[in-house]
Amino acid sequence: MKKKALALLLGICMITMTACGNASSQTSGEAPASTADEGAADDTAGAEDAQAQGEAAGSAVAGVVWYNFADTFISNARQTLINIGAADGTITITDADSTNDVSTQTSNMNNFFTQGVDYLVLNNINTGAITEICDQIQAEGCYGIFANTDTPSDEDFAKNDKLYSVSSVATQSGTIMGEALAEYWQAHPEADRNGNGKLDYVMLLGIQGHYDTTVRSQYSVQALEDAGIEVNNIGGEIICDYSRATAQEKVAALLANYSDDIDAVIACNDDMALGAIEALKAGGFFTGDDTYLPVCGVDATVNGCQAIKDGTMLVTALNNPVMLAKSIYKVMYLTNSGQEVTTESMGLEGVSVEGHRVWLDYSPVTIDNVDQATYDINDTAF
Ligand code: GAL
Repeated sequence: MKKKALALLLGICMITMTACGNASSQTSGEAPASTADEGAADDTAGAEDAQAQGEAAGSAVAGVVWYNFADTFISNARQTLINIGAADGTITITDADSTNDVSTQTSNMNNFFTQGVDYLVLNNINTGAITEICDQIQAEGCYGIFANTDTPSDEDFAKNDKLYSVSSVATQSGTIMGEALAEYWQAHPEADRNGNGKLDYVMLLGIQGHYDTTVRSQYSVQALEDAGIEVNNIGGEIICDYSRATAQEKVAALLANYSDDIDAVIACNDDMALGAIEALKAGGFFTGDDTYLPVCGVDATVNGCQAIKDGTMLVTALNNPVMLAKSIYKVMYLTNSGQEVTTESMGLEGVSVEGHRVWLDYSPVTIDNVDQATYDINDTAF
């Protein structure tokens, strides 16, 4: 790590180690209620220790730019990555919150470049600027890892052998939702609530233009159509930024006009599915006989799995934040020690490598297997 970075890094380490403290009491949990910088000062000593360890091992420093610390899935991945870094000591993890804002992302990246990090890990939300960002990373000379986001193009990868991406196979999550919904629809003729012969669905999207949202929405509907089901979209593209509160508000508004028509809700993550369920409950659904409505989500968060057990969510797709963090760390660990990144060298279940792209599998979670959909953010083995 470049020495000029030390002083600046300590400030950011203070934030990361605080989150580590939160993580210790949380296993496969939701986003912690406290904000990342509460009580940060108490953990400065721990941050210094981590820094000293990294330096002593002659190892590397990673600057990780997450799109939003408050996002449930991201919070779990973030805390796991901090835990792994602290347990292993080879790569010092420092991170920053883009607060779902592109210009904040840019300044976070620039701060890390100024600090001379060895790895820039980017949970990118500036989807229109991938090549530009790749070029900037190349000019800085550090490794770049696009995480949980659209991957750079083949051309981008061809220009820079220090570029990687680590992401789930978004198509799988869309297909998982669509196939489960198709199966439900075919088994339940009464699910066609207005009797129009079409599956009238509401689609809740994450961040506008975000890769997971685009792919999950397309592939879920595609799976319904592939099953021979005629579909009808109600409400158009409902952007909810992966937020539970926004989804609740928007579904509540929709119910005012379409309460008798909606046959299903497809949400591009569990938080939005849970917001929809709240609105549906307030609108008289899930209150007794003939008031069920299939709601689909993605992530298999703790609350998402609870909704499956409660019978309010039909299906979710396990998007494992622990596996994401392990994969990011492993790519850094391998490259830092001059090893090739392959499916074999990664050695993680459900993780495969194509060139410099590392892919993580999803798996369907329903009432039949919800008890097995667990992960532990304190699991630091990689
Ligand atoms: C997705 C996840 C969402 C949200 C998003 C942020 O993979 O399912 O819940 O966390 O990433 O990039």
